[in-house]
Amino acid sequence: MVAAVRVHKTGGPEVLTYEDVDIPAPGQGQIKIKQHACGVNFIDTYLRTGAYPSPVGLPFIAGNESAGEVSAVGAGVTGVKVGDRVAFVGTLGGYAAERLVPADRAVKLPDNISYEQAAGMMLKGMTAQYLVNRTFKVGKGSIVLMHAAAGGVGLILCQWANHLGATVIGTVGTKEKAELAKANGCHHTILYRDEDFVAKVKEITSGKMCDVVYDGVGKDTFPGSLDCLHPLGYFVSFGSASGQIDAFNINILQTKGSLFATRPTLNHYVAKNEELAACAKDLFDKVGSGAVKIPVNQTYKLNDAIKAHKDLEGRGTTGTSILVP
Ligand SMILES: NC(=O)c1ccc[n+]([C@@H]2O[C@H](COP(=O)([O-])OP(=O)(O)OC[C@H]3O[C@@H](n4cnc5c(N)ncnc54)[C@H](OP(=O)(O)O)[C@@H]3O)[C@@H](O)[C@H]2O)c1
Repeated sequence: MVAAVRVHKTGGPEVLTYEDVDIPAPGQGQIKIKQHACGVNFIDTYLRTGAYPSPVGLPFIAGNESAGEVSAVGAGVTGVKVGDRVAFVGTLGGYAAERLVPADRAVKLPDNISYEQAAGMMLKGMTAQYLVNRTFKVGKGSIVLMHAAAGGVGLILCQWANHLGATVIGTVGTKEKAELAKANGCHHTILYRDEDFVAKVKEITSGKMCDVVYDGVGKDTFPGSLDCLHPLGYFVSFGSASGQIDAFNINILQTKGSLFATRPTLNHYVAKNEELAACAKDLFDKVGSGAVKIPVNQTYKLNDAIKAHKDLEGRGTTGTSILVP
C-alpha cells in the first residue's frame, strides 16, 4: 500500500482524502513510477469539484502531472527500464507515492532537469510551449496579453514570449505579483482588479492593441479580452480560473474586428507520441538553456493537498506548486 490523495465525492478542497491505496504491478505496456514530486494544477480543482467529469468515475486519485523513477516495467515495454528518470502528464493518478502509466506516454528526463522542475512544468510548460508556438506563433514584434501573468502557466509563458521577441503585457491581482511578472518576462503589468485592463492595454500599445490574448481566467475577463485585440487578432481561451465564459453569439467576433477565437487544450496538441516528444524536447531545451526558468514557488507534503488547493483557488500562489510524497 502507498500514500495517495483520492476524491470519493466531488466538492470543495476537503474532499481530497489522504489514504493508502494499492498500486498493482504494471500490466501490458505499462510502467510503475516511484514518484518524487507531483504538480498541482487548476485542472485538478475542476476535476475535484466536478466542473470537469472524472474520466475514470469515482473514486479517483487526483493530479495530472508527476515525475519519478521507474520501479517496474510490464510486458511488452521497450525503450524504458527500471531506474530511468521520467515524467508524465495527461491522466489522473498524480497525487500518489507510486503510479502506473502507459510506457509510451512517459517522457525521459535529461540529467539537468530535476524531478521537482519536471513535476512543475510538464503540464504548465508544455501548455506554454504549444500556446506560443502553435496556437498562435509568437515572434519578434508580437504584442501579447497574458492574463494571470504571475500564475503557473503565466510566469512560464511570459518568459517564453519575451524570449521569442514579443512585447509582453500581463494582468495580475496584486503589486507583489506585478513585480514577479516583471522579473519573469513581462514588459508591462496591469492590476486588473483595480484598473480597466482594456483602457490600459490601449494606453500601453498606443492604440495598436494586441496580436493575441492568452486568457486562462475566463468569466471575469470576457468579453474585455476581445477588446484588447486589433482586427484579425487571436483570442486564445485556454482556461477558466474565475468560471466558464457564458455562451456568446459568434457575431461578436465580426463586430469586434473579424477576430479568431479558439479554446485549446494540451491533450490535443500532444495526442501523438511524436508531438509529445517534440513538445517536451523544446521545453527541456528552453529550461536547460536558461531561457525559461520554472518557478517552483510552493512545495507541500502530499498530505497537505487540501491546503495546496485552497491556496491555488484563493489566488494565494505564484508560479508552480508541487506536492512531494
Ligand atoms: N488548456 C490547457 O491546455 C491548459 C493547460 C494548463 C492550464 N490551463 C489553464 O490555465 C489557467 C492557469 O492554470 P494554473 O494551474 O497555472 O493556475 P494559476 O494561473 O497558477 O492560478 C490561477 C490564477 O488565476 C487568477 N484568477 C483570476 N480570477 C480568479 C478566481 N476567481 N479564482 C482563482 N484564480 C483567479 C489568479 O491570479 P491573480 O491573483 O493574478 O488574478 C490565480 O493565481 C487555468 O485556467 C487552467 O485551467 C489550461
